[in-house]
Amino acid sequence: MRISMLAWGLALAVSTLACTAPPAPVEPEPAAGPAAAAPTYSPVLSLNEVMVYIINHYSHFLWDVDEMGAPPSDAQWDEIEHAAYLLAAGGHLTMMGGTGERDMQWLNETNWQKYSQDMANAGLAGVRAAQSKNTAAVARAGNLLVLSCIECHREYKLEVPDIWAEEYEQSSGN
Ligand code: HEC
Repeated sequence: MRISMLAWGLALAVSTLACTAPPAPVEPEPAAGPAAAAPTYSPVLSLNEVMVYIINHYSHFLWDVDEMGAPPSDAQWDEIEHAAYLLAAGGHLTMMGGTGERDMQWLNETNWQKYSQDMANAGLAGVRAAQSKNTAAVARAGNLLVLSCIECHREYKLEVPDIWAEEYEQSSGN
């Protein structure tokens, strides 16, 4: 894992050099400090941790709305909105890899970015639904969400927990 991350870092450094190789710009940069460093990112969590503690945890706020029996209170709507924001951002988190052994390889898989974007879009739909306090729209966002889980897991992990299969059947049954 270390080696592949190193290789990744090197590739990035080389491409940065390649971009800055052409002749110096005509205009001198007045009072510019040291050259701005290219943005770098070092993951601090594994994808598995992101899945368990962020994605899976906050998905239930959307999925459980249907089973609440009564419309959510204002405080509950706030929590649902908050959770949906985390899912929207979470879709972008999974695009950035993680510290797990295969986390940086997954990023290059054919549909990885697509499924991550689907998850982010479902999160955003959840945000809008929570802001308008629309339980039917939250349920639709929850269905989009579970589709992204199932599609990505089916393709890359081969294991689809039963609970999602149930959610999926429910969502395709309506
Ligand atoms: C872009 C692909 C992708 C999407 C979308 C995705 N997952 Fe995952 N998920 C993974 C991968 C890959 C792993 C395995 C990580 C590992 O084993 O290191 C994983 C692991 C998990 C785990 C841990 C399973 C275990 O046995 O430890 C849970 C829970 C989980 N995902 C829930 C979800 C939920 C809920 C959603 C949808 C809201 C979702 N995932 C969407 C790729 C995805």
